[in-house]
Amino acid sequence: MITCSAPAKVYLFGEHAVVYNESAICCAVNIRTRVNIEYSENIVINSSLGTTGIDYEIHPYVSAVVDKIRKKSPYRGVSISIESDIPVGSGLGSSAAVVVATICAFNNLLKLGMDKESIASFGHSIEKEIQGAASATDTYVSTMGGTVAIPARRHLKNPLCNLVIGNTNVFSSTGQLVAKVASLKNIYPEVITPILSTIGKASLRGESLLENEDYRALGELMNVNQGLLEAIGVGCDELSRLIHSSRTAGALGAKITGAGGGGCMVALAENENIDAISREIKNAGGIPIVTGVTDSGVRVD
Ligand code: PMV
Repeated sequence: MITCSAPAKVYLFGEHAVVYNESAICCAVNIRTRVNIEYSENIVINSSLGTTGIDYEIHPYVSAVVDKIRKKSPYRGVSISIESDIPVGSGLGSSAAVVVATICAFNNLLKLGMDKESIASFGHSIEKEIQGAASATDTYVSTMGGTVAIPARRHLKNPLCNLVIGNTNVFSSTGQLVAKVASLKNIYPEVITPILSTIGKASLRGESLLENEDYRALGELMNVNQGLLEAIGVGCDELSRLIHSSRTAGALGAKITGAGGGGCMVALAENENIDAISREIKNAGGIPIVTGVTDSGVRVD
């Protein structure tokens, strides 16, 4: 049996702006999905969603990986079992993590000889096939780990701080939110384009703040980025409550991570404030997850 795991991701800066080629900073975080694989008579896929064969309704991502790999390197059957600590559909990259961990598991079982670059790009092609459109960021960061400047794909220093994620548990559709920003930009290009480019500038400034380990300023700029995300219409009441409670509880900065409209926020936190921030996120109706950046992208466990 082979077990591979891959991490979730958060955006410190730049979601939505990155769709228009502005800069962003994305981190792999220490919340993982594990995929176990072994040879078997048939194809069996087991997760908290149920036990199936190839099934594009229940296990679309893993089914797509199974099918694609079978075409390239035929095998009889495998049994795959998935355990995940990443909440599904909340902007933390749960689908990317399961895709790259499954590819890595096949890579080791069938000795396919794929390097990390090919795992990431194969993973991106699977996400595109299932979702219609997908940015390459999630699969790249989940494969490589660490803190990554996008679109340059340059590794930056990891923040030596904690991250407290707050999950609103409100479903949000990335496609719909990206379309909402596109429509605003279409109607008010002279207003919205500079906002997106200012988000890109905050992200670039964030790169040097990470380098200098200036977390107070980094948090301040994350708050600025949050204001700009509100301005382009991707906030919601639940996210605002978690973000403001985190700041009141001492977060250095707090903002949406991912598409917004629900899903998760992320707070940058010093050790002494983690408990208070988690408590306030809970009191404000969210589910707190205390984590940090991990250099460990997809790996064999
Ligand atoms: O919510 P997520 O994790 O899928 O992130 C979406 C990030 C966007 O910038 C809004 C879209 C994208 O494809 O980059």
